[in-house]
Amino acid sequence: MDLDKAIKGRHSVRRFKSKTPNWRDIIKALDLARLAPLAGNIPTIKFIVVTENDKIQQLAEACQQDFIAQAKYVVVVCSVPEQCVRSYDDRALKYIKQQAGATIENFLLKITDLGLATCWVGAFSDEQVKRILQIPEEVDAEALFPIGYEMPPKSKQRIKPSLDTCLYFNTWKNKYMKAIKKPEAL
Ligand SMILES: Cc1cc2nc3c(=O)[nH]c(=O)nc-3n(C[C@H](O)[C@H](O)[C@H](O)COP(=O)(O)O)c2cc1C
Repeated sequence: MDLDKAIKGRHSVRRFKSKTPNWRDIIKALDLARLAPLAGNIPTIKFIVVTENDKIQQLAEACQQDFIAQAKYVVVVCSVPEQCVRSYDDRALKYIKQQAGATIENFLLKITDLGLATCWVGAFSDEQVKRILQIPEEVDAEALFPIGYEMPPKSKQRIKPSLDTCLYFNTWKNKYMKAIKKPEAL
């Protein structure tokens, strides 16, 4: 699949077929996810691939989102802030979230490319998710990704903002590439 097709084809899926994905495909997607840019190239990301059904059921409960329970695998993306905070102090908190996002987008695109489906799940009880997966106190669970094959009919692409509504040139809210010169005073 070409890059444009993967970007345009990616969409959130909340209904999965009962077919079990090949776990090797998930590992392939994670192997590309980890290549995202990192501030100072300091790694902060860890992945937990959850394969045990009872844990998946507990995660669905921790998120209060039933569709997660249909998935055969759930990937949990975590951030380990310590080393980044030591290097970048207050900036680190921004960097850690930005690189988690970059990592996740790589992951989502490869999942799409492999014909798999998922949904970014950010709403959950941190306390419960961390307890279920024995994630240490100092580590953040950023998001969960239930993985499966999309159950037809395929979800509709969500409407996204047009480029025109989110593009400025040179200064905030300037929609023109060339500044319009004021006419010389007569
Ligand atoms: C930070 C973040 C958190 C999200 N949390 C949830 C969630 O908890 N549950 C859910 O069903 N979708 C969640 N989503 C998915 C969004 O609802 C979805 O991306 C959005 O509706 C746009 O649809 P699309 O992904 O098909 O483009 C989240 C997305 C992001 C980026």
